[in-house]
Amino acid sequence: MLHSNLTINKEGHLMIAGVDSVELAQKYGTPLYILDEDRIRANARTYLTAMRTYFGEGSRPLYASKALSFRGIYRIAAEEGMCVDIVSSGELYTALSAGFPAKDMFFHGNNKTDSDIRYAIDSGIGFFIVDNAEELEAIDAYASERGMVQNILLRVTPGIDPHTFAAVNTGKVDCQFGISIETGQAREFVGKILKKKHVSLRGFHCHIGSQIFDQVPFCDAADIMIRFIAEMKQQYKLVTEILNLGGGFGVRYVESDPQIDIAENIRLVASHIDARCAESGVRHPTILMEPGRSIVADAGVTLYGVGSVKTIEGYRSYVSIDGGMSDNPRYALYKSPYTVMLANRAHEKADFLCTIAGRCCESGALIQENVTLPRPKRGDILAVLVTGAYNYSMASNYNRICRPPIVMISHGEDRLVVRRETFEDLTACDL
Ligand code: LLP
Repeated sequence: MLHSNLTINKEGHLMIAGVDSVELAQKYGTPLYILDEDRIRANARTYLTAMRTYFGEGSRPLYASKALSFRGIYRIAAEEGMCVDIVSSGELYTALSAGFPAKDMFFHGNNKTDSDIRYAIDSGIGFFIVDNAEELEAIDAYASERGMVQNILLRVTPGIDPHTFAAVNTGKVDCQFGISIETGQAREFVGKILKKKHVSLRGFHCHIGSQIFDQVPFCDAADIMIRFIAEMKQQYKLVTEILNLGGGFGVRYVESDPQIDIAENIRLVASHIDARCAESGVRHPTILMEPGRSIVADAGVTLYGVGSVKTIEGYRSYVSIDGGMSDNPRYALYKSPYTVMLANRAHEKADFLCTIAGRCCESGALIQENVTLPRPKRGDILAVLVTGAYNYSMASNYNRICRPPIVMISHGEDRLVVRRETFEDLTACDL
């Protein structure tokens, strides 16, 4: 199977982390998100161990919680010793309410509002990752009002195109995030920061994109960043303590995606950075990374009930399920590839070519096209694999559909960690 936590039992049922998916669908209903907690922890430990070993003791992953945010995930991040990357007051609130320490949070985003800034500073946020001049002023002003000095990193754009999907490619000069090195604006901006009394510039951040399968784009980004760090040392005598290289490695959604060794890639990036720092005479900074997808994606499976099978002669067959773009908008948005299967008939021959359609009212509301399954029928359970990242976190109530619950499996035991939304939830804000 695609990942080692997925197997098929002798009745032909998909097993997730050793638990029968068909029994989970019966117990909790569909649609249903399932998460393998042991896999999440193992993924976290891969980054933690490799980063400490190869980058040095202080190096840690920040879990990019935009990939999947609910209280339980922040508890796991804290238990595993990860910091977290948050991008909104909502993520901040969720993390705080789970007991996650504010000092281990990094606040990202290209438009932090005054109220975000106040809330985060009042909560004792560890770092802001500063994106623009306006927010620098606002952070400095509020820190001054509070009589304190706020730690920050500056987000710069290294001007790199890692050739992933355009919508998740954020390190180019022409993008709304960060300040460009290439245009000289980042250099100038550092001078401005250093004049502020209530912020302390501890280092730099860059993020080149998502779904990157090898070390090369990270090494390219590190080259540019270390050159920039050397320039800042020369121009301002600035000692850069932290270099944050942004999001994590890619994830295998389909058989044709590569299987990668994250620890080995980190080792290669680390030896590249060691060499560059030595060459350019800069002190080796503490290296941070912000994996989201590769911490949670392969821990997730979504289960749906099949409703109808419609064959349009001369065209194609549509299999409609009881969820859709409201719980997974990624195919509608990015044509993201997924592996799908019938969870209750996984040992049967898959020879029925079809398109999986969700239940939202638009023709683009598909989950996947051109897949082969055993000919499905109403009541079958359809599984979409590798849905742990950017599914629940991007879900909506489009068509007033309730978001599914999340069931977590740990050591072979299942438990509800996010309950199913109710009609009362849907109308809770309506006056
Ligand atoms: N750090 C920053 C600043 C980011 O912008 C992102 C992702 C990450 C870290 C985490 O990257 P990861 O390790 O997950 O690749 N909704 C899209 C993905 C958007 C990613 C945006 N930024 C999707 O469903 O594929």
